[in-house]
Amino acid sequence: MEITNAKFIISNTDVEKCPSGNLPEYAFIGRSNVGKSSLINMLTGRKGLAMTSATPGKTMLINHFLINDSWYIVDLPGFGYAKRGHKGQEQIRNIIENYILERDQMTNLFLLIDSRLEPQKIDLEFMEWLGENGIPFSIIFTKADKLKGGKLKMNINAYLNELRKQWEEFPPYFISSSENTTGRTEILNYIESINKEINSK
Ligand code: GTP
Ligand code: MG
Repeated sequence: MEITNAKFIISNTDVEKCPSGNLPEYAFIGRSNVGKSSLINMLTGRKGLAMTSATPGKTMLINHFLINDSWYIVDLPGFGYAKRGHKGQEQIRNIIENYILERDQMTNLFLLIDSRLEPQKIDLEFMEWLGENGIPFSIIFTKADKLKGGKLKMNINAYLNELRKQWEEFPPYFISSSENTTGRTEILNYIESINKEINSK
């Protein structure tokens, strides 16, 4: 799929104030600094579309970007940033959870996982919560450029083995790098296939 048009629409903390209408939307979630905003810029081919930062905690709001005038990408705040403090983390968690539970237009959630790390409790628990609430999601392993081939494969296999303990069936998963555009075609094709399915109904 070609992205011919990508524009920022609105930022807010309240799911009620998200754009009305029923265009499908794809949201990106994961721990702070995992690379959500960078991935959105990579997918859309627009470097400054979503704000990124080397310091965790950059994205604080729900951000809607309209793509090709027909679907949305949503950049969400990251969870689990300890320096935000307990109250700050709880606030962010509320924003995220309300959005995920209440936004009917949310067609698929991409959960981003840092491919360099071993399975993190916070991510596994978050997936469990998604499963309990019947939220459709897929996994994207990020920052693949930071690992040499063998190590990348090893980490991803270890992750999948960990998931096998909890899940009978896997969600789809992708490997990405915002530095060298790994995964771009696969992720966009996946979104396109879901959009087509929705439009054919
Ligand atoms: P929050 O908004 O704080 O939750 O973070 P985020 O998940 O949106 O992360 P962001 O895209 O701002 O990226 C965090 C840092 O990781 C930045 O310094 C990025 O340059 C870097 N980064 C993101 N993706 C990649 C990648 O694929 N490869 C490499 N090498 N660095 C990346
Ligand atoms: Mg961000």
